[in-house]
Amino acid sequence: MVRSLSLLGSTGSIGTQTLDVARSLGLRVEALAAGRNVALLAEQAKEFRPRLVSVATESGAADLRGRLAGCGFPVEVVHGLDGACAVASCPGAEMVVAAMVGVAGLVPVLAALESGKGVSLANKETLVAGGSIVMPLVRAKGLALHPVDSEHSAIWQCLWGAPEKSLSRILLTASGGPFRGRDRASLAGIGVEQALAHPTWKMGGKITIDSATLMNKGLEVIEASWLFDVPVDRVTVVVHPQSVVHSMVEFVDGSVLAQFGRPDMKLPIQVALSYPDRVAGDCVRFDPFDCGPLTFDRPDSKTFRCLALAYEAGRTGGSLPAVMNSANEEAVALFLAGRIGFLDIPRLVEESMDRHMAAGFVAHPDLEAVLALDARTRTELAVSAGTDR
Ligand SMILES: NC(=O)c1ccc[n+]([C@@H]2O[C@H](COP(=O)([O-])OP(=O)(O)OC[C@H]3O[C@@H](n4cnc5c(N)ncnc54)[C@H](OP(=O)(O)O)[C@@H]3O)[C@@H](O)[C@H]2O)c1
Repeated sequence: MVRSLSLLGSTGSIGTQTLDVARSLGLRVEALAAGRNVALLAEQAKEFRPRLVSVATESGAADLRGRLAGCGFPVEVVHGLDGACAVASCPGAEMVVAAMVGVAGLVPVLAALESGKGVSLANKETLVAGGSIVMPLVRAKGLALHPVDSEHSAIWQCLWGAPEKSLSRILLTASGGPFRGRDRASLAGIGVEQALAHPTWKMGGKITIDSATLMNKGLEVIEASWLFDVPVDRVTVVVHPQSVVHSMVEFVDGSVLAQFGRPDMKLPIQVALSYPDRVAGDCVRFDPFDCGPLTFDRPDSKTFRCLALAYEAGRTGGSLPAVMNSANEEAVALFLAGRIGFLDIPRLVEESMDRHMAAGFVAHPDLEAVLALDARTRTELAVSAGTDR
């Protein structure tokens, strides 16, 4: 079990729950990175007394320095991408929890790995956009990459001690989101508030919208493919609205193992940090007499087109998953800002993927190519959405 950590994205949903776990397990927090929520980061720093903290902007760093002046412990305040990378590679931290949202987390995760640190990964966009860069580094350096996503934690746990090559397929569960069972026509007028009302999980804004479009499940299919080294077509999505079975693994002999639990991210965070131990924390216990009937269904990837797009991107590989991810990030941001409709998200993502395949596909993108494609995809999407002014 690790004794110390650095945390990227400390002010978010996963970040704050990671600090709950650190508090309950008595882990030392060496460094914290956040975006714009300087007030919360200052509170976190006062409680956990890290040696290094980072925020997104220079003005945020000046504000944070003011809030931490005279706090009675030595703390360095840095900012921007360099700041997040310094947090990711902070000496003294045994593991980095990657809980920033979006492809913005890719470079800091690479900085953590380059500095020889294991990573507990919540930030799935990192693997979707940069799996072909991250995974060889993890293997070459023999580092730990522990999944934090509840589904991937479940799969990981089901595979502990499994003989090599015994995995037949992954059954990745999905709640189905707030619009499960609806048809396409009824999704046209969906507003931001409706899409943010997830039935079982309380999460950050971007992932909540991804859950409503089923892009979140699509991103997870690609994430599972990288983490467990299986093609996307051996990852089957199963709609399970109760979110109690966090995923299943089918072995070559037909045996299926599942992991059960209440919808509470603190447990997978704790599992990632305590591996290979099992420790008593303060996670909510599962009670089989209190969970009601459990149901399993096929996803509707005609209505929720994003899931089909993610399979297509995962099958094609190369630069297409990165472009799909960047287009989705940009489209979700525009939807959250009230500038496009709900059904514009899959439409704009698909148009971006088509544009990319027509001109610009890269079979083996390096980091520079992924970052350049990210910028270009966002600009082109804004133009095609008519929101570039
Ligand atoms: N929430 C869940 O239950 C859950 C479950 C599984 C996987 N995940 C994955 O975990 C990741 C985080 O999700 P979340 O729900 O915790 O998101 P969130 O609540 O929106 O938090 C995102 C965090 O990233 C920080 N951040 C954003 N841009 C940044 C930048 N440029 N530099 C430094 N920090 C930056 C934010 O800082 P500020 O708030 O200070 O701006 C915040 O701390 C996502 O990839 C998501 O898919 C989440």
